[in-house]
Formats: sequence, structure tokens, C-alpha cells
Amino acid sequence: MSVRYIDQVPDGFYAGKRVLMRVDFNVPMDDNGKITDDVRIRRVLKSINYLLDESAVIVLATHMGRPKGKVVPEFSLEPVARRLTRLLKKEVVFLDDCIGEEVAKAISAAEPGTVIMLENLRFHPGETENDAAFAKALATGIDIYVNNAFATAHRAHASVVGVTEYVPVCLGGFLMREELDYFARALTNPLRPLTAIIGGSKVSSKLLAIKNLLNSVDRIIVGGAMAFTFLKAQGFGLGKSMIEVDMIEQAKEIFDQAIARGIRFYLPVDCVAAPRIAPDVETRVVPVQEVPKEWMGLDIGPASATLFNEVIQDSKTIVWNGPMGVFEVPIFSRGTLGMVHNIASTYALTIVGGGDTDVAVHQAGEVDRISYISTGGGAFLELMEGKVLPAVSALEECCNGSLGDE
Ligand code: 3PG
Repeated sequence: MSVRYIDQVPDGFYAGKRVLMRVDFNVPMDDNGKITDDVRIRRVLKSINYLLDESAVIVLATHMGRPKGKVVPEFSLEPVARRLTRLLKKEVVFLDDCIGEEVAKAISAAEPGTVIMLENLRFHPGETENDAAFAKALATGIDIYVNNAFATAHRAHASVVGVTEYVPVCLGGFLMREELDYFARALTNPLRPLTAIIGGSKVSSKLLAIKNLLNSVDRIIVGGAMAFTFLKAQGFGLGKSMIEVDMIEQAKEIFDQAIARGIRFYLPVDCVAAPRIAPDVETRVVPVQEVPKEWMGLDIGPASATLFNEVIQDSKTIVWNGPMGVFEVPIFSRGTLGMVHNIASTYALTIVGGGDTDVAVHQAGEVDRISYISTGGGAFLELMEGKVLPAVSALEECCNGSLGDE
């Protein structure tokens, strides 16, 4: 089974039809309710414009935050509708609910070429519970369902799973296609050598991903605080560096498995150490064997950066998830930002996923030189773990049905 996408339909298919497009506009906001990063909105414009050109009525549905089934005003999608109006240069009609009689009336009365934005799906408990009645209500008056919310595809929620039971036709959006295709190019059928770079603070949160990657990668680079747990497993002291004691045994097993399979496993050889995390604290570059007793490693050092760069430059495919250090603090950001520049300068297919890694790429100003930046955090990680995403399998199953008029 595979997903059928929005451009794989007969001519005139959308004219006057009501299309419910599930998007992921779960964008970060500051304390004043201002959107601080609208990439997730921009990345869907292509699909919206495509459907507008085809004279559809477009109904956009998304969640925002975790309001736990209640109306929480700070998670309202009104600011998102306003931003979308600006980006599309076209008025977006905002409805203050996502189901119900008034919503159904507005959708049915809309003229072709109208864009409607529904209020937060998670204001109803039925969304996260994948409740059948809620899913059915969402499908009311809808002719075609488009799932373009890759970043939510790891959730078995009503608007991405249940709803597919009640809509006449299902299709995938362009963003969904890009995400799944790039991932497949990287991990299912990669040009080799394939290198995975995994960073971040905890081995426990990436354990399944690393284990699964051992089935496909040629090299693996581990950076960030999680590297200290792997180094601890090799018997190093490491001062007060962050170590997950209960993961040491597993880290050792993974390392040994990788070596037994002929996978080259790279860990930092030096680090930027400091007594604590602070913007103006004293720092030293030390080999990992020589982190002072009361200090901790907070970034990879220059020798590690050079070593990792040698591996990267000789790779044909690179997948990266997780920073190399505490890059939010400028004095501990060189390892992560340097990694972005090094990856950007390779001739490899480069794929980056995860919220922090995405931020680092933007901070380093290298967005245009990375082959693909995923909009998914949890969804990207679950793909790396080898899991089937529930929303993708529901979409595939539903796409398998007819287009209605065939
Ligand atoms: C995300 O930001 O990763 C997605 O929007 C999913 O959000 P959730 O973790 O609240 O389900």
C-alpha cells in the first residue's frame, strides 16, 4: 500500500469540493501570543495554493499545544489564521470551533477558493482519544480529506487516524510526500556510506533510534551529553558530566553490537568543560579523559569536530538528529554550529530532523545548504526508530480506496 498524493487525481477533481486538510501548525509562540517561528505554516503553502488554483474550498485543521480537551485561550489558532492570511495574501476565515452545526453551515456555504481555519482540535477530548463520534463530526460535509501533517503522524488521534473512516476520499499533501520520500532516500535506499549523527542529552530518549539505525548505517557519530554515557561505559572518569547511570550497560551493548557488525562508531575525543552551565563561566578544552573532577563536558571540542568532519566529508548520505552540546548558551555552541557548517559543506544528501537540530541549522544560517529539514520532532524520531506511523498507515489504507468517481 502507498499514499496517493493530491496531484495524482483526474483533472477538475477538486472544483467546488470541500477539502479538509490536516496540517501541523503547532508553532512556537512567545508570552505575548506572537508566533516566533512560522516554518510549519510556510511549508504547507504549496499545498494550499495548489488546491486554491483547483477551485476547492479548503478547510484547515490542526492542534496547538496540549490543552487536554478544554478551551485554553492561549492555544487558540486565531493568531495562526492571521499569519496565514498574511502569507497567502488572502483572507483566511477563522471559525471558533472545529465541529458542530455552525462549523458545518460555514463550510457548506463557502464559495470555491475560500480558505477556512478551524479552532484547535485539542479543545475537544475526542481528538487525542481518537473518538469515533468526534472523527465523524470532523468529516461532516467534507468531500476530500488531505493529510499534510507529518509532524503529527506518530499520534493515533481522531483527525489523522479516525477521520479516515468517515471521509469519501483520502490523499496525502505535498509536505507529507516530501517528508516520507526524503526519509526513504536516506534510510531505506541510501547512497553509501550512510552516516547517522545522534546528539542531545539523553541516551534513553534515542536508544530505540540508535538500535534501529544499526540495521542500516555504515557509521554512527554520537555527540551531546549522551556521548558521556557511552564514554562512561568505556571506563572514563568524566568529572560531573551528565551520565545516565542506568543506561551505561545498554550503551555498552549498543557499542559492542555496532563494532561486531562492522559499523564505525565515533564518540567525542575532547570536550569544552566548565564547572556549570552559565553564559560567562570559565571554560577549558580538555580530552574526555581529563575532565576536572568538579567540572562537566558541555560541548564537543575542536579535535572531535575535526574527527567528525572527516567522517562527514567522506559520506554520501547523512542523517542528523540532536545537538552536540548546550548550544543555547553561546560559549557551548561551537560544536553544534560547526557541525551544521560542516554538514552544509558536504556533497552528501543531508537530512536533519528534530526541533533543536532545526533551530541550530537556522541559527547557523545554513537552511539553504541542507538537502532536507524535517518539520517533525517526535514523528521523525519514530521513523528513525523503525516504527510505522499510525497516521501514515491509516492514510495508506484509506488512499487504497477509490476516488469516488472512478
Ligand atoms: C510536535 O510538535 O512534535 C507535534 O505537533 C506533535 O505535538 P505533540 O507532541 O503535542 O503531540
